Amino acid sequence: MKHLLVVYHSKTGKIGKMAEAVRRGVTHPDIDVELRFLQALDAGPEDLLWADGVMFGTPENFGYMSGALKDFFDRTFYEVEGQVDGRPYCLFIGAGNDGTGALTSIRRICNGYNFREVQDPVLVVGDLQDEQVDRCEALGMAMAAGLEAGVF
Ligand SMILES: Cc1cc2nc3c(=O)[nH]c(=O)nc-3n(C[C@H](O)[C@H](O)[C@H](O)COP(=O)(O)O)c2cc1C
Repeated sequence: MKHLLVVYHSKTGKIGKMAEAVRRGVTHPDIDVELRFLQALDAGPEDLLWADGVMFGTPENFGYMSGALKDFFDRTFYEVEGQVDGRPYCLFIGAGNDGTGALTSIRRICNGYNFREVQDPVLVVGDLQDEQVDRCEALGMAMAAGLEAGVF
């Protein structure tokens, strides 16, 4: 069975709601992948080594990803370097008024891991709407289905 890792951080709850929607999509009854669903501060290199694919979720803080997600990258890079080449990933990001700084900075770091971005990110600027929650669920479902089918 394929392994899907979700790593996210949320301070005031928006990304938490997005992550829960992602989780609903990944655990759709028609899809059979194993999920690890972890807050960034609780995740480590062993989770990346376990994963066949990864989804990262973060708010944009000060024009960058959250410190917690950056800390996850800081703690795992050398530990997994060369062992996770080509792993598919995708992103869900929440921001007050922008989000591009978080998006760009994560993509740069993921290039360093040699991850492959396989789906367009879900970027929610402002308050979370039902339609955006649905997009997060669809993102999780597509990631899980793609992994299961070997498409990624
Ligand atoms: C310390 C801090 C810095 C922030 N910096 C930015 C920023 O640079 N750009 C932006 O669009 N939103 C910024 N925001 C807004 C958050 O990205 C936004 O409220 C996000 O949805 C919070 O997600 P959460 O509820 O999961 O914590 C900032 C929020 C905080 C608390």
